[in-house]
Amino acid sequence: MRLLREVTQALADAVGADRTGVRLSPNGETQGVRDSDPLPVFIAAAEALSSIGIAHLELREPPLDGTFGVGYLPPLAPLIRPAFKGPVLLNSDFSAARAQADLDAGIGDAVTFGRPFIANPDLPRRIAEGLPLAADDRATWFTQGADGYLDYPPAGASARLRSA
Ligand SMILES: Cc1cc2nc3c(=O)[nH]c(=O)nc-3n(C[C@H](O)[C@H](O)[C@H](O)COP(=O)(O)O)c2cc1C
Repeated sequence: MRLLREVTQALADAVGADRTGVRLSPNGETQGVRDSDPLPVFIAAAEALSSIGIAHLELREPPLDGTFGVGYLPPLAPLIRPAFKGPVLLNSDFSAARAQADLDAGIGDAVTFGRPFIANPDLPRRIAEGLPLAADDRATWFTQGADGYLDYPPAGASARLRSA
């Protein structure tokens, strides 16, 4: 907690709290870390970050049936959200429909997308127009060149961009 507070404060002092965001992963094992009782810890963290006045707090929280990490508790975001005064971003395994439902329920202020952006360079347009989403290819997640990063075509364009 002290490390989080002091590092965030130092960053905010250097670049401005309004240009500082923090991502926390309160639910599910992350990089080998699994908290036995995460809620009090992450509420305290959200309060500490709120008092620094950072621009936003992102909660990466895979659901119980997550496809890239799994949560081990029902969603904690609704319980953490009141502890942070600024915008809260939600992440992990969101479809457009689930994102809209959580926004409508006031659980978060925005939803961030990871994997869908890899395969859909025009993701905002596809969501806005209800177009189908392309699936990402896990085999090219961490390539060092264009493969897997720059070769997914926008909707309606030739699929020949993909070399795999
Ligand atoms: C190729 C790849 C690299 C990622 N790198 C990071 C990273 O460096 N830091 C991080 O916090 N999350 C990273 N993530 C996780 C994503 O930010 C996101 O939390 C995750 O994909 C779940 O969101 P999604 O269901 O919308 O994909 C990465 C994900 C992928 C697929």
